[in-house]
Amino acid sequence: MTESFRKSVNKELEALRTEGRLRVLPETGKRSKASIESGGRCLLNLSSNDYLGIGDEEQLRSEYLLAFNPENNGDRFCMTSSSSRLLTGNHRLYGELEERLAAWYGREAALVFNSGYHANTGILPALSTRHDLILCDKLSHASIIDGCRIADAAFKRYRHLDYSHLEELLDGAHAKYRQVFIVTESVFSMDGDLADLQKLCELRQRYGAFLIVDEAHGAGTFGSEGKGLCEETGLTGSIDIIVGTFGKAFASAGAYGVMDGMIRDYLVNTMRPLIFTTALPPVILGWSMQVLEHQRTMGEKRCNLHFLAGRLRKALEKKGMQTAGESQIVPVIMGGNQKTVRASAVLQKAGFLALPVRPPTVPENTARIRFSLRADIGWEDICGIPEILHQVSENGEQAGNNNVAVQQINSFQ
Ligand SMILES: Cc1ncc(COP(=O)(O)O)c(C=O)c1O
Repeated sequence: MTESFRKSVNKELEALRTEGRLRVLPETGKRSKASIESGGRCLLNLSSNDYLGIGDEEQLRSEYLLAFNPENNGDRFCMTSSSSRLLTGNHRLYGELEERLAAWYGREAALVFNSGYHANTGILPALSTRHDLILCDKLSHASIIDGCRIADAAFKRYRHLDYSHLEELLDGAHAKYRQVFIVTESVFSMDGDLADLQKLCELRQRYGAFLIVDEAHGAGTFGSEGKGLCEETGLTGSIDIIVGTFGKAFASAGAYGVMDGMIRDYLVNTMRPLIFTTALPPVILGWSMQVLEHQRTMGEKRCNLHFLAGRLRKALEKKGMQTAGESQIVPVIMGGNQKTVRASAVLQKAGFLALPVRPPTVPENTARIRFSLRADIGWEDICGIPEILHQVSENGEQAGNNNVAVQQINSFQ
């Protein structure tokens, strides 16, 4: 390492520290149902993506452990696949899981990936060439943006949920390119708002575009069977690739895409994050399959989740707080970074783990507390939150005695 490189890295770290934006990896401890140990205390975890609250569900877990009986399902015990899917890592559970996913969505084929990040950084670079154009919602997740950047295609962002802007871009461009790809999230992770899938499918149809919808925060939480916003809007058959993740409402790890068989064959041959990585361990594939099987029976959990989100939004608005969205992700936009960190610290003192999200993850002056609600709690568990935030807004200094908590919150982001 040269001295000048060492100095420039150090300088950047110092700058992040001074601006209060230095990220460190926070240690969390024991989890039990909806609570998590953090900073030596047990807090209600409102910052995880386990939206259905099944990560710690006793019955589901024991069922899986029972199915682990080495005499019948011994190979599910396997903790590693030890190689890529294209070598010896393609355990039969991959095939079973993909068949079930395709049948569930009523589509020709499915493909399982190591994570949503692998899916989003692999699909577009594999499908598109320099003769193509990618149009992406401006507030799409970093993994989608990274995929657009890696791809050889031209890449433009349309204003968030502004489909007239998207139409303008399509009008000017679709004849110049071999293929135009449109990519969006269904439930946006920072604002909890929803894409208009109906409109996107109309544009796909009119311009012959290839539509990719990331349901990372919609799968498991929307649709009567939990397939996502595409199910709720009756559009599972009209989207070229629906991406879902297993690490959020499915309480497992990995991701999937459902698509036509030809596209699946092409991705198997071209998608680098599928080809050049060690496959998921069978123990995870089996667990994902088990959770998938139970999705149909989780309608009540989804109802409770949306009931809580609606009630929390209303109660926050009644207290004059600014919120947004229409999903289980409820942001409270506080504005300044310091104020948001203090609000999070006060919440922590009151027993809630709800972390602040600050720029550059969200636009300047829109720092927020992001509540990720979960189905395994009741209104009585969270009804105190609007008043706490109202107090912080009214009287910022009230939080002045929370230095320890502020330090802990800073260690989270
Ligand atoms: C919209 C979206 N897509 C993809 C991902 C990445 O998924 P994974 O955590 O499985 O890598 C995330 C993660 O937060 C996300 O919010």
